Amino acid sequence: MSSRESWVSNVGFVLASIGSAAGLGNIWRFPWLTAGNGGSAFLVVYLLIVVGVGVPGLLAEFVLGRRGRQTPIGALRALVSSRWGSALGTFNVLTTLVILSFYSVVGGWILHYALVSPTGAYFGQPQQYFGTASYGLQAVGFHLLFLGIVATIVFFGVSSGIERASKVMLPAVVVLLVALAGWTATQPNTAAGYAFYLRFDAEYLAANFPSVLGPAAGQALFTLSVGSGAMLTYASYLDETASLPRDTLVIAVSNTFIGVLAGLVVIPLLFSQGIDPGQGGPGALFVALPPAFASLPGGTVVATAFFGTVLLAAVTSGINLLETPVATLVDVFDVPRRRATLLVSVLLAATGSGLALAGPIFQFVSGTLADLLLTVGLFAFVVIVGWLLGPEALAEFRAGSGRFDPLAESWLLTVSWVLPVVVLFSLTNTLASLAG
Ligand code: PHE
Repeated sequence: MSSRESWVSNVGFVLASIGSAAGLGNIWRFPWLTAGNGGSAFLVVYLLIVVGVGVPGLLAEFVLGRRGRQTPIGALRALVSSRWGSALGTFNVLTTLVILSFYSVVGGWILHYALVSPTGAYFGQPQQYFGTASYGLQAVGFHLLFLGIVATIVFFGVSSGIERASKVMLPAVVVLLVALAGWTATQPNTAAGYAFYLRFDAEYLAANFPSVLGPAAGQALFTLSVGSGAMLTYASYLDETASLPRDTLVIAVSNTFIGVLAGLVVIPLLFSQGIDPGQGGPGALFVALPPAFASLPGGTVVATAFFGTVLLAAVTSGINLLETPVATLVDVFDVPRRRATLLVSVLLAATGSGLALAGPIFQFVSGTLADLLLTVGLFAFVVIVGWLLGPEALAEFRAGSGRFDPLAESWLLTVSWVLPVVVLFSLTNTLASLAG
């Protein structure tokens, strides 16, 4: 076997992982979920779940990846058993394929909007414009373009493709978002939006308590890229010198920062137009934001910057999702990376096109199914780490962990006892919403 690829630097791994986490989840899903679930009340619950479940869960996934030094199938075969490892690993790879199928369609919408924003093409009749752009042949075309961008990066491999792209794109996302948030703050009529977003509403929370948990948990997993084996794959390119707990914290904090920042752009802008962002659903960015851009001086410039930012963020997530099936072909079936990239991309071109043509299925896949797959995946990861590996997982946590070493035991306790319960709860919640 040829020697495996690896990151050039730990910073490269961290940036690529933040890039994976920060994506459409933060900018497309987070603002309308937050707005539709009580604003600040949702924000608080979401943050608690990120800290209590997302962070220890992500760390568990990283531990599996670095311990196994392989993509999900190989890693889990080595750590669990040949049969269960193959089954669960295959489930993981399918999860990344399912998520990327719809992710690439939305990525295509974003690419489309980024390209036409300089002309303000959709400013006049955003609803109609989005109707034509979102499903059908246009959507197929831009999905293929988006997938092409992502595939080109993955084609060049871990260090020359993914790491290099992430080092440029992620900082660009942060700088652009800060600039956009600053611009938003200078716009009129945004006070109600900030208040809704930032003033904690205990009454709303009390009235909606158990029901906000489901969407908050789903969002926390989705945004941290936890539960699909994609982060496991990234960690498989690490060596024992990296501090997994430190890296996990940096990734989670940065991702949350980017999410909150995106909310500081989107929510006040929506309120400034008197739009209830909770009503917007998945189309919020495309339908509800354009009037805000159109009514403001320099709207085309801001719109271009905005969709360009979202595009970069979506690409850095897409490459993590594509890397997982591609690297699986490389690891398990010895397919050369370039051929593997081509094969998987052809498959995704087809599945994504299918979704771009089938609205109702798209809705189901991008909402419920994605949450469901990630939750099941995470459940399996935490059971393996907590109950099967135990001391071995502790050793992996400790390798390179430095001053985080004393936290190892409490992390394992959390992974063994708290996470399975919370994740099962959120699973039942999602299933119940399916039935309902
Ligand atoms: N975290 C990414 C986002 O928020 C989505 C993602 C999920 C990426 C799972 C990889 C794995 O956009």
